[in-house]
Amino acid sequence: MIPDTTNEWPGAEILPEQGLWSGRLILFDSLPSTNTWTKAHLNSLHAGDVVAAWRQTAGRGRFSRSWITPAGGNIALSLVLDKPAQPEQALSLGQTAALAVARLLESLGIRTQLKWPNDVLVQSRKISGILAEAASASDKIVIGIGLNTTISREELKANGLEEQATSIFLELGRQVEAEQVLSQLLSSIHETLAEKQKQGNRYLARAWKIRDALLGAEIEIIVGEESWRGRYQGMDDLGRLMIQFSGGEDRTFWSGEVVKVRRGKN
Ligand code: BTN
Repeated sequence: MIPDTTNEWPGAEILPEQGLWSGRLILFDSLPSTNTWTKAHLNSLHAGDVVAAWRQTAGRGRFSRSWITPAGGNIALSLVLDKPAQPEQALSLGQTAALAVARLLESLGIRTQLKWPNDVLVQSRKISGILAEAASASDKIVIGIGLNTTISREELKANGLEEQATSIFLELGRQVEAEQVLSQLLSSIHETLAEKQKQGNRYLARAWKIRDALLGAEIEIIVGEESWRGRYQGMDDLGRLMIQFSGGEDRTFWSGEVVKVRRGKN
């Protein structure tokens, strides 16, 4: 497909489709943050558009953390989707994106795990993170996906992340073609969203369960200034975390940060 480089956004290439993905791919070499750019341009974007960059200078993670995307073929992208009619469906969109990343990595031979709410791990190290954001005045939702593709151990070390993070390059022991991985990722997102649409939320909960990094674990969930400890019970059909406290009481959470206190089966 021939990219359109004479468009309204200087520095962007626009590809009309990518793999199975039929929306536009708006591709930059570098952006401060694909989520920030996408939210600022939502008026001229449509559901199905994807904004991607090979490098971010101010990438953002959950809980106002930073997300590093150094130059050299790491993948940062933001997906524009219609806001679901029921707001409680929004959580599962980010989780569907995490599942799509996991399925892509598995197709490359990398065994993955999913950690609530939407982290993708390889042997407890994070390889991908999702930041879903809604712009209040818009009927669109932005799903940001960061996938460590080409980053080396040295670069992770320079950012103090060598124990916590990994990349496709480190897992396979060879570099991959980043353009190809991006196209495969968009195909995987297309297929995974379609499967969820067809089978409903149960599909996500089932697919999550077989990859669940927290299964059987004793966890702490932190929400703002508060935290709770208990045994992780899995993820329900709406994508909520289920926990049981030592007294036997059950509770579900829509958001929060989870810390594993004691390992479970996985
Ligand atoms: C997390 O695990 O904390 C979420 C990380 C999300 C990072 C992605 S990279 C593409 C998009 N743009 C951003 O600035 N953040 C998200």
